[in-house]
Amino acid sequence: MSDPSIKIVLKNVSKHFGKVRALDAVDITFAPGTLTTLLGPSGCGKTTLLRLVSGLEPASSGEIWFGDDNVTQLSATRRDVGMVFQSYALFPHMTVAQNVGYGLRVVKTPPDEIRRRVHEVLEMVAMDGFQRRYPDELSGGQQQRVAVARAMVLRPKVLLFDEPLSNIDSKLRRSMRDDIRRLQQASGITSIYVTHDQAEALAVSDEIIIMRSGAIEQQGPPQALYHRPETTFVANFIGESNVVDAELKGAGEDRQIVFGEAVVDVTADMPLTNRTGPVKLSLRPEVLEIKPMGDSASSQDLRGVVVQRAYMGPVIEYSIKTTVGELFTRVPAYAVQFTENDEIRVHIRPEDIIIIPENDRDHV
Ligand SMILES: Nc1ncnc2c1ncn2[C@@H]1O[C@H](COP(=O)(O)OP(=O)(O)OP(=O)(O)O)[C@@H](O)[C@H]1O
Ligand SMILES: [Mg+2]
Repeated sequence: MSDPSIKIVLKNVSKHFGKVRALDAVDITFAPGTLTTLLGPSGCGKTTLLRLVSGLEPASSGEIWFGDDNVTQLSATRRDVGMVFQSYALFPHMTVAQNVGYGLRVVKTPPDEIRRRVHEVLEMVAMDGFQRRYPDELSGGQQQRVAVARAMVLRPKVLLFDEPLSNIDSKLRRSMRDDIRRLQQASGITSIYVTHDQAEALAVSDEIIIMRSGAIEQQGPPQALYHRPETTFVANFIGESNVVDAELKGAGEDRQIVFGEAVVDVTADMPLTNRTGPVKLSLRPEVLEIKPMGDSASSQDLRGVVVQRAYMGPVIEYSIKTTVGELFTRVPAYAVQFTENDEIRVHIRPEDIIIIPENDRDHV
């Protein structure tokens, strides 16, 4: 088999449904062989983007390229795309083998080859031996794996997943998402994956695209989105975040971030270090340390009062009232514990401070 990995490029793609701009002049490159997740609130255009890539829906304007081929005008059947949806849509009156072999029968593949390829792909999804079962004799996770096998058996250039795990209970989701990741990596098929679940997105993706109102808010590897969100929208969407107001002061070597009574020296690797003036910071709940007031205080600390405490097993969550607003923190249960109304200090290591480069764009 030749290398199946192709690049997918969207050039200035828009999609309008009457007055609704479901996608607005989107430019994206999906690198060959990668799995990219589209993540964003309901109605932001994720399914629309998948449907345009699949060819089920024509673009209003712009171009879609698979490798060196401009596929913008090609119908879905000629684009060589495999799809897995939330409702697995297996044919109920067909066995597993018939479901998986269906697409091969349509293109008149010889029966021997169908049997061989169905076997091969069922083996990949750990469903070999289930050939004669009907969908209603399978668990949800097994049905989903058959749906993945059915999409892969045609050796498509592109795999599209639209919330494939949302009908599956949370324990099984974790192993299913690992299965999908493993299969995708083994096949090298360029894949686009839609989910509402940011933990799932962080776990399966090479790249994540955060979408908002039909546009791309930010694209990057999971760690980059988590540690370098460019907008407060992204900071809040990936993981949890305390967004606080701060001020950048000073010049040259001598520059500080001031928030409340805390003053922290700016380091070279922080973004936006040439600017002065108001800025927003993202402080992740797990990087805030809570210390007794009496401990050697540092000018980098914020004073606070515990307003709420929740025991969560391995961690304890505290809400802390400070001069920059209420901060949500999550600390290991083995750390010193506090109770409501305790006066404490919140310590933040400078390297954990995330400066959000952009003033939040005003979206309507
Ligand atoms: N066939 C259609 N006709 C009219 N409007 C549509 C159509 N399909 C989608 N839309 C609109 O386009 C926008 C984007 O819809 P889309 O289904 O892509 O969102 P989504 O990000 O997949 O949301 P969800 O997370 O709820 O699945 C929405 O405002 C939706 O109402
Ligand atoms: Mg959708």
